[in-house]
Amino acid sequence: MTTFKLNTGATIPALGFGTWQDADAQETAVLEALRAGYRHIDTARVYGTEAAVGRAIKKSGIPRNQIFLTTKIWNNKHHPDDVAQALQDSLNDLDQDYVDLLLIHWPVAFKRGTEQFPKTEDGKPAVADTDYLDTYKALEKLLSTGKVKAIGVSNFSKAEMERILANATVPPAVHQLEGHPWLQQREFAEWHKKHGIHITHYSPFGNQNEVYSREGTIGRLIEDPVLVEIGKKYNKSAAQVALAWGVTEGHSVLPKSKTPERIKANLEGDFKLEEEDLKKIRGIDRKLRFNDSSKDFGYDFFKDLDGKK
Ligand SMILES: NC(=O)c1ccc[n+]([C@@H]2O[C@H](COP(=O)([O-])OP(=O)(O)OC[C@H]3O[C@@H](n4cnc5c(N)ncnc54)[C@H](OP(=O)(O)O)[C@@H]3O)[C@@H](O)[C@H]2O)c1
Repeated sequence: MTTFKLNTGATIPALGFGTWQDADAQETAVLEALRAGYRHIDTARVYGTEAAVGRAIKKSGIPRNQIFLTTKIWNNKHHPDDVAQALQDSLNDLDQDYVDLLLIHWPVAFKRGTEQFPKTEDGKPAVADTDYLDTYKALEKLLSTGKVKAIGVSNFSKAEMERILANATVPPAVHQLEGHPWLQQREFAEWHKKHGIHITHYSPFGNQNEVYSREGTIGRLIEDPVLVEIGKKYNKSAAQVALAWGVTEGHSVLPKSKTPERIKANLEGDFKLEEEDLKKIRGIDRKLRFNDSSKDFGYDFFKDLDGKK
């Protein structure tokens, strides 16, 4: 299995298992994934899947130190005084002493409290003025507790990343972002490489997630003829080629599936593409971003990045 080194010295597997959506199916899915050979699981407070992930890890009997486990702080817990408890709540649900990686899920802060999607009186997202930099500094403090082995961010723009780097004591180990052959973000990826920040790709199958349906018919990434054609050479599906593209670029990929055959098949996306195939895939970067919650979250994300409409 391909692995990469984080700037903390820790090892992260290239293939990770996503757990957003289908919460009721996740205990079985994660157990299936662990039995199939995944050793990297991605969850988040807001997915409501932490308890299921924790149960599956216990049931698998796999020693904890062989699994790379990520969770994320949700937007209503950005205030520095809330961060430590937010982590503890996640650990309690996961039934774990630590996570390998804790991320700030989005740069926007919501109103403090228990509501994950607080609204103003007129129905707008209730944002708060906590600076993500202060949240990040609170994450830095958690490192010495041993409850998190590494920290990072998700869904940050380039300007936001630069500001974190300029002011942080501990640079982020990981940036989790949308990445697939239709949204390659090559310049941004280069920037991360230069600064030693590992990238993990969410939604590695592009618009396969059904919440990403768009107006018009643009087809499915996993039916892109270029990926299908390359797949023939390696005896792989286009979906597996999409994963291999991320792995060959040096990133981790986080496919999600509740379907046993797909869970196994996606693990076979861990292989390297030849340069001539990488070149062909460079030609299909349509700069299509499917996950932009700017309107719903009351904050303008990805301002300086590819695929911003
Ligand atoms: N940081 C963030 O803001 C953020 C945002 C989005 C996602 N994520 C993380 O990234 C993970 C993956 O992203 P995602 O769930 O959006 O999308 P994804 O993994 O690209 O796609 C998931 C969809 O593809 C289907 N699928 C899986 N394998 C397939 C295959 N081999 N052939 C055909 N269809 C297949 C799944 O169906 P079935 O399940 O029915 O098999 C599901 O509908 C998430 O679960 C989450 O952990 C993070």
